[in-house]
Amino acid sequence: MKQKKLKILYSQSQIQEVVKKLAKKIDKHYAKIKSSSPLVVISVLKGAFIFTADLIREINLPIQLEFVRISSYGTKKISSGKIEAPLLLLPDLSGRDLLIAEDIVDSGKTIHFLKEYLNDQFRPKSLKVACLLNKSARREVNIKADYIGFEVGDHFLVGYGLDSAEKFRHLPYLAIDE
Ligand code: IMP
Ligand code: MG
Repeated sequence: MKQKKLKILYSQSQIQEVVKKLAKKIDKHYAKIKSSSPLVVISVLKGAFIFTADLIREINLPIQLEFVRISSYGTKKISSGKIEAPLLLLPDLSGRDLLIAEDIVDSGKTIHFLKEYLNDQFRPKSLKVACLLNKSARREVNIKADYIGFEVGDHFLVGYGLDSAEKFRHLPYLAIDE
């Protein structure tokens, strides 16, 4: 099968540099607040798995890693607007410091849903969001990520965990799928 040509937006090394910067900011903030228990990083599958793996390896603080699987996308490039949460199993995280790791915030619906869910379930001590990519032009709900890697325009991106109909997640760079 032939791979179609994609336009590279951010190279592997540009991504690494930005991920390191995010980790530094995260380190600094959570070192200052001196929690008695490890920071809980909640990775949003599938898209955030590579970002999360790189991010947590640059964080020099005790970490507990958890996964949820949520999306508001079908296999199409337009958000369905309907949240699907096929995996939302978490241990008791009451009163903990929670940091959501997400690949991209688009309409904002996924993060909005997850924040409400985590707040309701656990009354966390803190709840923040780290996203690699922020597509603010397409925002539909009022959501702001606390740590943002790249501000991107209204393009459909693939690679570094992000897919188009389950393709391209393995690419080490970020590209525009035209
Ligand atoms: P939101 O709920 O509209 O903010 O959508 C966020 C989710 O949609 C992300 O977790 C991604 O999995 C997916 N998504 C949004 N934009 C893109 C894109 O450009 N490429 C691939 N996936 C995307
Ligand atoms: Mg996602």
